[in-house]
Amino acid sequence: MGQEHVVVENLRFTYPDGQQALRGVSFRVAPGEKVGLVGHNGAGKSTLLLQLIGILRGQGSVRIAGLDLDDRTVRRIRSQVGLVFQDPNDQLFSPTVFDDVAFGPLHMGLPVDEIVSRAEAALACVGMSDYADRMPHHLSLGEKKRVAIATVLSMDPIILALDEPSAGLDPQGRRDLIALLRRLPQTILVASHDLDLVRQVCDRAIVMAVGRIVADLLPDELPEHEALLYPQDASREVSALAQGAAPSLGATRQPGHVRGSISYSTRAKVGGGTDVGETA
Ligand SMILES: Nc1ncnc2c1ncn2[C@@H]1O[C@H](COP(=O)(O)OP(=O)(O)OP(=O)(O)O)[C@@H](O)[C@H]1O
Ligand SMILES: [Mg+2]
Repeated sequence: MGQEHVVVENLRFTYPDGQQALRGVSFRVAPGEKVGLVGHNGAGKSTLLLQLIGILRGQGSVRIAGLDLDDRTVRRIRSQVGLVFQDPNDQLFSPTVFDDVAFGPLHMGLPVDEIVSRAEAALACVGMSDYADRMPHHLSLGEKKRVAIATVLSMDPIILALDEPSAGLDPQGRRDLIALLRRLPQTILVASHDLDLVRQVCDRAIVMAVGRIVADLLPDELPEHEALLYPQDASREVSALAQGAAPSLGATRQPGHVRGSISYSTRAKVGGGTDVGETA
C-alpha cells in the first residue's frame, strides 16, 4: 500500500468571532479508502473539510499524499484534493455549466482537446451532459449540486472531499450519486447526514461531535451508536466514556482498536480535562 492520503494531527481551529470549531482532530485515511464524516449540525465537518485544502488554516498539521500543507504546497494540494462545497453556489461562477466544469482543467494548463474531453466526461458522470450550455445560476439546487461535483471530477483529483453531496437531490439523483461514489476509484471523504449513503458508499464512518472525533466505526455500526449524532447525547456519551462508563460503547474492546469502537485515544483526550460539551 502506498503513502497515506490524509494525515491530520491535533488540528484545532477557532473562527475569528471566537467560535471554536475544531478541538484537536486527528485521523488518517489510506489510499482508496472511502470515509464518511458524520455528526450533528455544527460538529465541525465542513470546517474540517475546508482545512484539507487550506481554505481555512488552524493549528496542528494536515498532510496530503505525503505533502505537509503550507504556503508552498497549498497549490499542489489543491490540484490533488477536489472539494465539493456544501453550498453549490460557492462553487459555480462561470457563465455556462461547461465553462465551470472546464475551469479546473483549463487552469491546469492542459491541451484544449483534453480540457473538452474531461469536461464532457465529468458532465456525463453526473448525468448533466444536456446542461452544458445552461447558466449555472439558473439551475435547480439538485442540478447545481451535480454540476459542482462535475467541476471537481474534471480535475481528476486523487482525493475527493464532498460536503453533503446528496442534500437536495431527488431520489434518482441520489441513487445515481451513490452509484457514482461507489465506482469512483478515488480516496473519498464525504460529510453527510445521509447515513444510508454513508453505509452504501463508505468503508468507515468517523463521527464528530462538538469539534472532536468521538468515534471511528464501521458504517453498519452507526445505528447502534446513534446517540453520538445528537449534540447533548454525544456530550453525555463521551463524558461517560471518559469516566469509564457507557458500557454500550465498545466496553468489551481492547485499547488500540479504533474501528468499531470509541477510540481509546479519544477517551484519553476527553479524560484529559476538556469537556466535549463546553462551548467557546
Ligand atoms: N464562518 C463562520 N464563522 C463563525 N463560526 C462558524 C463559521 N462557520 C461555522 N462556524 C461554527 O463552527 C462550528 C462548526 O461548523 P461547521 O459548519 O463546520 O459544522 P458542520 O458539522 O459542517 O455542520 P452542518 O451539519 O450543519 O453542516 C459551528 O459551531 C458553527 O456555528
Ligand atoms: Mg457542514
